[in-house]
Amino acid sequence: MRPPIDNGTVLIIGAAGGIGRELARLLSPRVRTLVLVAREVEALKALREELLLRNPTLGVMLRACRLDDPGAVDDLFAHLERHYVRVDVLINNADHSSSGLYAEERWKRIEELVHANVLAPAMLTHRLLGPMLERGRGGILTIGSGAARLFLPGAVTFAATQRFLDGFSESLRLEVKDAGIPVTFVAAGPLALEPALDEEVTPFFELSLRQCARESLAGFERGEALVYPGLGHRWMMRLLRLLPRSFKRGLGRLALGGLRRKLLLSPSGPGTHEPPRPVLLAQGEPSSAT
Ligand SMILES: NC(=O)c1ccc[n+]([C@@H]2O[C@H](COP(=O)([O-])OP(=O)(O)OC[C@H]3O[C@@H](n4cnc5c(N)ncnc54)[C@H](OP(=O)(O)O)[C@@H]3O)[C@@H](O)[C@H]2O)c1
Repeated sequence: MRPPIDNGTVLIIGAAGGIGRELARLLSPRVRTLVLVAREVEALKALREELLLRNPTLGVMLRACRLDDPGAVDDLFAHLERHYVRVDVLINNADHSSSGLYAEERWKRIEELVHANVLAPAMLTHRLLGPMLERGRGGILTIGSGAARLFLPGAVTFAATQRFLDGFSESLRLEVKDAGIPVTFVAAGPLALEPALDEEVTPFFELSLRQCARESLAGFERGEALVYPGLGHRWMMRLLRLLPRSFKRGLGRLALGGLRRKLLLSPSGPGTHEPPRPVLLAQGEPSSAT
């Protein structure tokens, strides 16, 4: 059961940077068409130039879609239908995160996060799955975070959305497995800031974006349910699974202590701070551990 990547049409949500951009680079020599989505089309134009330079016959469609906006997914589908685009593989990758103490966060921000990380991937999947089942081919890859395995004070909503994505993906997978539609969840760990264009050596835990994208794609193509990219992260996550819940609470308390110290030291003081990045020590997602 392999996802129909070769000569297929792949929709990447959140392709302007990070893992999404690396996935686009990896997929570009193989697919017929890439549909690249980010909040602003402008942010995708340089990537399109780069991909076309290397793959002149590739079809590249750019589309702006703010996942935190409730009507945006409908607009995206209307656009795809108008252009007769049939999506073979969906990659949910947009990274909408926030950090800070829950009580101090603006409700609007929390709502946007739930929209982008829960409702939008659920809706995208729902809209695409029916046609995939009818055709008997398709695939859904969701790039999320190892935060799905942790308790993260300072990133309460983000951590909860990752649990949703994990459970959603694993459960859906069982429903559609026999129909030949692979569904994979990637619980990524700490990633290096710079996209690695060459085979850069990274520390045990910190993985390059390119390597993360490569391992995510390889796991998806092997039909794996869950991928932990990176050897160090993989072992840490496997170990965590064996440890009691109370141990994870202890880790969470440590993280909270660190976050509170940072907030107290912040020049603006608690409540008005520019929140520090929370726990998983990763750029682009909450990290709180110190
Ligand atoms: N980076 C890490 O260290 C790390 C670690 C573990 C897991 N992850 C997970 O990996 C995935 C990708 O992360 P990343 O760091 O590669 O992301 P990134 O570099 O921040 O890029 C995220 C992409 O998502 C788009 N995006 C963000 N919010 C959006 C919204 N509301 N609507 C539409 N598009 C939106 C961005 O578009 P714009 O350019 O328009 O903003 C961008 O194209 C996420 O699920 C994240 O949780 C990341």
